[in-house]
Amino acid sequence: MTDTYTKAVNSGFTKTLATKLGLPRPAVLRRFRAGDPLTVGPVLVLSDDASRSDADTLATTLLGWDLDVRREPTDDARWGAVVLVLTNAARPTEVSEAVLELGSVLRRLAPNGRVVTVSRAAADGDAPELAATRNGVDGFLRSVAKELRYGTTGNGVLLTDGAAVDAPSALATVRFFLSARSAYVDGQLLAVGPGDAELPADWDHPLTGKVAVVTGAARGIGAAIARTLARDGATVVCVDVPAAGEGLARTANAVGGTTLQLDVTAEDAGTRILEHARTRHGRLDIVVHNAGILRDKLLANMKPAQWDAVIAVNLAAQLRINAQLLEAGVEGLHVVSLASTSGIAGNKGQANYGFSKAGVIGHTRATAPLVAAHGGTANAVAPGFIETEMTSSIPFATREVARRLSSLQQGGQPVDVAEAIAFLASPAAAGVNGQVLRVCGQNLVGR
Ligand SMILES: NC(=O)c1ccc[n+]([C@@H]2O[C@H](COP(=O)([O-])OP(=O)(O)OC[C@H]3O[C@@H](n4cnc5c(N)ncnc54)[C@H](O)[C@@H]3O)[C@@H](O)[C@H]2O)c1
Repeated sequence: MTDTYTKAVNSGFTKTLATKLGLPRPAVLRRFRAGDPLTVGPVLVLSDDASRSDADTLATTLLGWDLDVRREPTDDARWGAVVLVLTNAARPTEVSEAVLELGSVLRRLAPNGRVVTVSRAAADGDAPELAATRNGVDGFLRSVAKELRYGTTGNGVLLTDGAAVDAPSALATVRFFLSARSAYVDGQLLAVGPGDAELPADWDHPLTGKVAVVTGAARGIGAAIARTLARDGATVVCVDVPAAGEGLARTANAVGGTTLQLDVTAEDAGTRILEHARTRHGRLDIVVHNAGILRDKLLANMKPAQWDAVIAVNLAAQLRINAQLLEAGVEGLHVVSLASTSGIAGNKGQANYGFSKAGVIGHTRATAPLVAAHGGTANAVAPGFIETEMTSSIPFATREVARRLSSLQQGGQPVDVAEAIAFLASPAAAGVNGQVLRVCGQNLVGR
């Protein structure tokens, strides 16, 4: 699925024309390729006074990742990223100097640059001034992200439960936000706890030795997830309905995985998934609940079958499979579920879909402590507008509006969702639990 508009305004004569007419010119986003540098230029690490030692710690780690790290803005640099550390700021007035320093370098960020804040989440019992400062970062980051151009994104790490700035999951999240893997993640703050995480020996293959199951893997986002998990080192079990057998075989062959033809709404779907993974591959580490359907109708016109089918595939199947895996006591399981921005902001004609996707967010939060008791995590990814067969069925005008309605002025690619899932499924992200990560280019609808 392609976005011909973005292609046209970035090449040849049509590029010149679009510039002259002042039309939106969505940037060509830089996506991950093994061997490419982590960022597009040097990284500037800024902080408020109280957070200086955390900034030093972070800068040392970034140096270890072969980045060109600087602590002072210089006029000659074309920055690949700016990391703003505000972990110990306790009063709103304490952040002024650091945020304005960030402002002074924004015009010198390279295309596809990154702004990453690292701060602490407001928590129960915080003094009002502290809570105000910590929550202020949320509105600040989301606003700054909307000011960034040329494919540059802004995201934030929110440390929780006393996690240190160099907790493995905090570092892994900073790295994800800095990298091209997060190309379509914009304006998001991800809560990161201490967790029992470990940084990978090889950052290009963080899933080596892991066995992953992906539902709905025959096409679209599911196929991209299978490819990305396999690229990162996992062995992948590809699940889809028998009717999608051809596409399923194609995906499984491409990733050197196995196929399991299964309707996820089957009563024993969880048991069969576990049995297949264990018999064929000896273990199960990752489950990605991606299978999903649309049956869009205004609620006034909705037939029972349209409501029921969406709830059955998108929500009830995930609940049942999780329950069966928990019952079987699978250890260290990383579950990642597909939600949607429709489940956050709502969408006309999608009352059924919105219920199912908000339900996914609800069960993810509730499942998180249950899997954590067995050393696992449960997180959700909420894509915005992604270019797939599912969205190509949307009428042209609506589709165009949906594409341009994000900070990045374009739809995402299936691989963008897949990258977020691969990150959340990785051992390094063990401190991220019960979270919803939007992959929506900072879609302007909803939070
Ligand atoms: N495309 C988007 O913009 C977008 C946005 C938000 C969320 N999502 C979510 O991402 C996921 C994938 O979306 P997509 O665009 O790739 O969809 P798609 O329709 O292209 O692919 C969905 C796959 O799921 C499979 N599937 C459907 N019912 C199944 C069942 N009962 N058992 C097993 N497999 C089944 C289908 O055969 C298909 O291969 C869905 O959960 C969707 O709700 C997509």
